[in-house]
Amino acid sequence: MIKTIVCKDYDEMSKKAAQIVKELIINKEDSVLGLATGSSPVGMYKCLIEDYKAGVISFKNIKTINLDEYYPIDPTHNQSYRYFMNENLFDHVDICKSNTYVPDGLAKDVDKFCDEYEALYDKLGGADIQILGIGRNGHIGFNEPSNELIDKTHLTDLKEDTIKANARFFDSINDVPTKAITMGIGTIMKAKKIIVVANGENKADAVYNMLKGQVTGMCPASMLQKHQDATLICDELAYSKCK
Ligand code: F6R
Repeated sequence: MIKTIVCKDYDEMSKKAAQIVKELIINKEDSVLGLATGSSPVGMYKCLIEDYKAGVISFKNIKTINLDEYYPIDPTHNQSYRYFMNENLFDHVDICKSNTYVPDGLAKDVDKFCDEYEALYDKLGGADIQILGIGRNGHIGFNEPSNELIDKTHLTDLKEDTIKANARFFDSINDVPTKAITMGIGTIMKAKKIIVVANGENKADAVYNMLKGQVTGMCPASMLQKHQDATLICDELAYSKCK
């Protein structure tokens, strides 16, 4: 079962999510954090930066591993997920950049890279916590709805809906990469603890299907019903169809 915490708005959601990560870091200063990009966790990262600045937590011994990255994309591109992580977290805390892992959007042999990323995940000991957003179509990472979800890190085609949703960050929809490297569903499920952050009415269907729907590859997030420690932290709008 997925535990659910409904918050009044984005700020409260962000604080609640950051609180859980903060407690983890305080209890285990060398935690491995599985991280996500996108708008949903930005507020949570802001709270964690504040906690760092207030001297409550340090990232000195933290390692991070990100869910996904567009492909192909240069890590210095301002829409790459590496760039996003630097801007929204890494550049503001005392983390050692060499302890932060984001899939390589320029990997030459992409299949080999995916195998290595999966092995790296295991070598790190797996994520103590995995942060997830959820796509309007129920995707997690870039595991798009499919009857044949892939377990391990892999290269995937983005669905039209995802490309459209992400076009808001690019000059034109034609600039949005059509592929991405993503952890697989099995990789995500290996995390010891999972937190999904979701806000806004446009996530209401996906949240409903994740919590109340059948466990099906057609809503990849519904797979989290099988995880032993998954929590959804959402705002009232995202929860509106579950009442
Ligand atoms: C991002 C990721 C995606 C997003 C999802 C929601 O690393 O893996 O699954 O979490 O597309 O994106 P936002 O938060 O922008 O609505």
